[in-house]
Parts: sequence; structure tokens; C-alpha cells
Amino acid sequence: MPPRFLLFLFVVILIKIPVMSIGAADFPIFREAPAFRNGEQCPKMANIHIAMTLDKSYLRGSVAAVFSVLRHAMCPESISFHFLAQRHHELRRTIRSTFPDLTFTVYHFDANVVKGKISSSVRRALDHPLNYARIYLADLLPNSVTRIIYLDSDLVLVDDVAKLWSIDLHGHVLGAPEYCHANFTSYFSDSFWNDPKFTRTFQLREREPCYFNTGVMVIDLWKWREGGYRAKLDMWMKIQKRYRIYELGSLPPFLLVFAGGVEAVEHRWNQHGLGGDNLKGRCRNLHPGPVSLLHWSGKGKPWLRIDSKRACPLDSLWASYDLFR
Ligand SMILES: *[C@@H]1O[C@H](CO)[C@@H](O)[C@H](O)[C@H]1NC(C)=O
Repeated sequence: MPPRFLLFLFVVILIKIPVMSIGAADFPIFREAPAFRNGEQCPKMANIHIAMTLDKSYLRGSVAAVFSVLRHAMCPESISFHFLAQRHHELRRTIRSTFPDLTFTVYHFDANVVKGKISSSVRRALDHPLNYARIYLADLLPNSVTRIIYLDSDLVLVDDVAKLWSIDLHGHVLGAPEYCHANFTSYFSDSFWNDPKFTRTFQLREREPCYFNTGVMVIDLWKWREGGYRAKLDMWMKIQKRYRIYELGSLPPFLLVFAGGVEAVEHRWNQHGLGGDNLKGRCRNLHPGPVSLLHWSGKGKPWLRIDSKRACPLDSLWASYDLFR
């Protein structure tokens, strides 16, 4: 071997080993989840695809979310998980040891793809590059995956995900619960509303645009790829950098591209806001109506509130899916 290569190898080993072991040591450790088996009526092949992000600070939430999906599924072995992560090697190991039988792939999400597109928002956690990973699902996942359910890491399901999977998108690219009573105007700044070349985007829609939460989405990835939707989202993020047309993180570009053309999913699939508002994180109650998914969107996260002995009443429900050791 050429000496320069040996030197290179030596330096890599010297640098890499301590970094990796320090990195792994501060990762949370989880109990192993029980094995979940398919019922008799289930298909042999994985036919439900779910995407989530993984990172250290939300890992406890992601693990609880996966556990909740498996626990309520009639065909848990038919679910394939697609995780987007920056430190993908360590996180792959954690998922494997927690869910030994899980069908999953971890994709490396390169934060450089969003560098320069993020503008600071009202809550710093919203500026994390991984928050933007959902924009790149169609690019990262193989073309054989033509439909995906995207789930945030601060939620649990209490119903069979197969019901959400099988909804009819009626030709739409994206399905999500819509909230037409929310004040849509407030999601964008005056520099947006005062510029007709921006506001025209909403006039071309099927119907009045409504707010939807991007934490639970069913996406037709085939249509997304065909229609070049990532480029459309990128374009609005570039405009934001220049004109500051909104204050929140990755949500407004989704509203700009899809609102007014979304397939409305039943509200039971995203009982959101349980983390309270973006600033204080006060306790919230459920909205009236049936519940299939509880979502701690907002500032307060159940695992943090539980650890600091300031749990809200509904956090105990989340705790029944907590595998943290
Ligand atoms: C909606 O929000 C905008 C901007 O924040 C405000 O000016 C307007 O009065 C609000 N409309 C309603 C109906 O609350």
C-alpha cells in the first residue's frame, strides 16, 4: 500500500473511533419492543410505507410513534418504515436493537441540501434542517415507493394505520386533515399579502385555501415526482429568503404549494396542538370527535414534561408507548 494511504487510514482511525464512541454514549437507550405478528388475512409483502425522521433529541418520540403504529396494526409485518436521519449509522443501530423484526431503511439526509434555504422562525426547533427533510422524501426513497405516509416524531397512533393508508386521494398529490376555521391570513406576512404576484398563487386553486398540519400527510409520490413538487417548494423557500413572506419553518411552503388542493382527511388522524402553543407549551385538551392519532405539536413535548415532573393529563397516554429505559 502507498505510505500516504496508510497515513490517511491511520488518521481516520485516530479521529473516527473516539468520535463514534462519544457519540453513541449520549444516545438514549430503549427497551426491546415485543415482536408483532401479522394476522391470517395479511399480505405477505410489505404494502404500507411510513416515513419519519430520526434524530437524537426526538428519538424517544420516534420510538414511541413506531411502537404505537405496530401495537394497533392488524398487519404490523406488512409495514415498511423509511427513516431520514443525519447520523444514520448510530440511529440505525438503535432502531434495530429496539425493534429486532422491523422492516426499515435509514436514509442519510444531507443537511447541506437545505443550507441557505432555512430562514429563522418563531421557535428555534422549527429551524432544524431535519424539519425540512419531508420535502425530499420523493428524492430519497426508491421509485418503487409510490405512496407514503409521513409522520412527525411527536405523535402516537391509537388506531390501525392501514385505515389511513387506504384513503382515496381522488387524484390529489397530498392528503391531510384541513382546518378551514384557522385564520389562514396569519400564516403569511404583509409582504406576502401586499404583493399580487405572490397572492395569485392562491387564486388559481380548486377552492379556498385552508390550513393543514404537515405532521401527518399521505403523499402520492408518483404524482409528486411527475409534477416536480420539490422544485415548487424550493422556489418558495428562495422567495422567503429574499422577501420574508412568513414566520414559521417548513410549514408555509407546503401551504403555498398545496393549500386549496389538498385531499381532506378525517380530523381523527391528526388531533394536533397537544404540545400547547409555540411559545409557552401549555396543556391542551383534545378537540371533540373521534381520535386515531394524537399529536404533541407545539412547544411542549410529553417526554420532556414527564422528565421534569410537569406532565399534562394527556401525556400519560403518550407514556404508555414510551420504551425509554
Ligand atoms: C386574521 O389574521 C390577520 C393577520 O394576523 C388579522 O389582520 C385578521 O384580522 C385576522 N382575521 C380574523 C377573522 O381573525
